[in-house]
Amino acid sequence: MTELTIAIAKGRLQGETLNLLISAGLGFSSETLKSRRLAIEDESGRYRLIFVKPADVPVYVEHGIADCGIVGRDVLLESDADLLQPLSLNNGACRIVVAARNDAPISQLGMLRVATKYPRIAARHFGERGVAVDLIELSGSVELAPVLGLADCIVDLVETGKTLQENGLSIIEVISESTARLVVNRASYQLKAKAISQFIRSLDDTQRRRAGGD
Ligand code: PRP
Repeated sequence: MTELTIAIAKGRLQGETLNLLISAGLGFSSETLKSRRLAIEDESGRYRLIFVKPADVPVYVEHGIADCGIVGRDVLLESDADLLQPLSLNNGACRIVVAARNDAPISQLGMLRVATKYPRIAARHFGERGVAVDLIELSGSVELAPVLGLADCIVDLVETGKTLQENGLSIIEVISESTARLVVNRASYQLKAKAISQFIRSLDDTQRRRAGGD
């Protein structure tokens, strides 16, 4: 019987997360890994993985549909879900930054137009500085907004820096660093204490082993 359901963020973290789980002892056939199925079980039948959009990981875990989730800190900063965060993972390192066009520095005049997929992080950041902003919420390709004149700057995630560079933008300020986090549903943490603590320990041991170069 499945002991734990784990929500995995699809996209940039997915490959590294699966590698971590496999190193931690979960087994999947190559056929299962190649499939487009959104819910799979590991070979022991103890773990079920569900693959969802990053922003939906906190939703599935908070509602207890998944007991645990693996998702970037950037997503958690943008979410108001009430979750436990017992383990910080080493993978998925990136930064959330303010960036603007190299050839058009931000003007201090008028309301700053900020395009972002992270409206809460952006509002908090500029709010703390007392800067009035007009937030323009986009779902992707945020770097285009300053290039085409929709915004003065962006708040976005930077991993390699290539997207900024290739679109003529540069970092003005780093808001926060991010890596992946293990999140756990509060009730599951109590009701499935043994399975969850075993899972946390196996992930923690695996990353320590990897960091030690074993
Ligand atoms: C993210 C982010 C940047 C890009 C940064 O977008 O919003 O656009 O990756 O990566 P880089 O620093 O390595 O170039 P994502 O790939 O998630 O797609 P999106 O534009 O649809 O949000």
